[in-house]
Amino acid sequence: MYDEHEMDRAGAMPLFDAIGTRRSIRYFQPFRPVERWKVEVMFEAAQRSSRSVNASYLKVIACERDTLDPEAREALKTPTNTADLDMAPLYLFTYSDPQAPAGGPERLKDLYDRGAFAPALGWSHRFADEVVGKTILEPLLADPAAAGWMAAVEAAQALAHILLSVTALGLGACCKSWNSDVVKESLSVPENWQPMWMVLVGYPAEDMQAGGQRPRAPISEDYFWNDATTPFEATPEVTAALEKHRLLQPLAPYPWRQAEIRSIARAYGLPEE
Ligand SMILES: Cc1cc2nc3c(=O)[nH]c(=O)nc-3n(C[C@H](O)[C@H](O)[C@H](O)COP(=O)(O)O)c2cc1C
Repeated sequence: MYDEHEMDRAGAMPLFDAIGTRRSIRYFQPFRPVERWKVEVMFEAAQRSSRSVNASYLKVIACERDTLDPEAREALKTPTNTADLDMAPLYLFTYSDPQAPAGGPERLKDLYDRGAFAPALGWSHRFADEVVGKTILEPLLADPAAAGWMAAVEAAQALAHILLSVTALGLGACCKSWNSDVVKESLSVPENWQPMWMVLVGYPAEDMQAGGQRPRAPISEDYFWNDATTPFEATPEVTAALEKHRLLQPLAPYPWRQAEIRSIARAYGLPEE
């Protein structure tokens, strides 16, 4: 049921806090369904992601766990997707569509008419048809490797919006490997959709901190300034400000993490060792 108070709380979560608070959640309250309106929020957030030629690369089938027969559910599992699949009440089966750029020139012309592109930067209806359509999109769509690569990159951006909105909505999620063939037929998945990840979604059975923020390499290892040999160094004042705004949070493990994991295992009849 739609809950205005919860929506207001989700809408008020600052972006930095959502980025910093997001975790892969692997324990869910198995009995508590995810409300449809929250899925709608996730999908609207995904649909706002940046995307080349304004195309819809990400396709998602939201599927309530209990609509799948137990055999199919079992068959979805992989070595890294086990009892958490039984606990999560909602699955997002995600796919990328390599043919999504088709129709790009028409969408670009629409964007032009809306003032997103302008002649000052070389754009025109003719440019959309003859340069983008003919010299970029036609060769791309004819090359399955290039189109598949592009669709995966683009779809992942939209998926990131879903993961952040999940956090803002007070839910947990984890991307998982899965045996996508299991549901291909029963869910009428179109032939050209490429399976990405299965996202488990539900109300966390663990604290939203899930033991603390995961360690990452310092930005100087992966990000550079002017050339690839000059590391981009963090500065104390920005680090302190990001800690204040909760983008940077205390690292895992919290002192009580192992006790929390054992307690959840006992509560849900999972192995403790
Ligand atoms: C594309 C993708 C695939 C993943 N696959 C799995 C998986 O199969 N099983 C799993 O337990 N976690 C999976 N994860 C979660 C990662 O292990 C997790 O993101 C990582 O440990 C960092 O933790 P964090 O997400 O809490 O920051 C996946 C994450 C991503 C983004």
